[in-house]
Amino acid sequence: MTITYKDAQGIAGMRVAGRLASEVLDYLTPFVVPGVTTNALDKLAHDYIVNVQGAIPAPLNYTGGGKIPYPKSICTSVNHQVCHGIPNDKALKKGDVLNIDVTVIKNTWHGDTSRMFFVGEASIAAKRLAAVTYDAMWHGIKMVKPGVYLGDIGHAIQRFTEGHGFSVVREFCGHGIGQVFHEEPQVLHYGRPGTLDKLVEGMTFTIEPMVNAGRKEIKEGPEKDGWTIVTQDRSLSAQWEHTVLVTPTGYEVLTLSAGSPPIPAFVLA
Ligand code: MF3
Ligand code: CO
Ligand code: CO
Repeated sequence: MTITYKDAQGIAGMRVAGRLASEVLDYLTPFVVPGVTTNALDKLAHDYIVNVQGAIPAPLNYTGGGKIPYPKSICTSVNHQVCHGIPNDKALKKGDVLNIDVTVIKNTWHGDTSRMFFVGEASIAAKRLAAVTYDAMWHGIKMVKPGVYLGDIGHAIQRFTEGHGFSVVREFCGHGIGQVFHEEPQVLHYGRPGTLDKLVEGMTFTIEPMVNAGRKEIKEGPEKDGWTIVTQDRSLSAQWEHTVLVTPTGYEVLTLSAGSPPIPAFVLA
């Protein structure tokens, strides 16, 4: 596997796929209420992607790294679930906090994005974790431009996150993306400035930090479904994800849509 650099046509395809992925999250937002099951959200997302967007839900039957095929169309990771939670028939309840991760394929191109959702009202602690994780992602995005190192991105995310007393999950990372769901490079959410690959115009990759309120260690979930990951200490975990393009002068976030949360002021300044 190698890094792929997108030309004008590839960039156009990535823009469309990215917007569609984000629009799935917009569409799901009003349905994330107490009593809904993650299976119901999965069905809503699946039907919207296939029937309205004319796209393909990339997770469905995905076997990244020789795993058992992923059985659903979105990932729903609730509370202390870190990532890759599989939708099920359990109803969400007031106070739950979850990540919904959507990846669509449109005209062969992938768009990958996730957001945090609160079911009813959330605890101060959950809101703070989600907000810090959101800002951590943007501290990483803000670094992106040609000549910057992947280690600079990881360092920015790690420094900000740990500065708020939270921890960065190490075992999962962002990734190159294009006509392949997960391609090179790996985009670590921790690291040292000036290390790893230098960014080049035309690269597209995700930045998707997983941040734990407690310790960084994770484990396989008790479901033993081959996918669900949880925090070892059962502390809450949060994640946000965008797909970005390296432009000649900086970056373009490809997974924005009408319902995207505001870009933090420190990014625009
Ligand atoms: N969307 C996830 C990511 O950000 C990957 C999910 S793989 C799946 O990379 F099979 F669990 F869907
Ligand atoms: Co991703
Ligand atoms: Co994703």
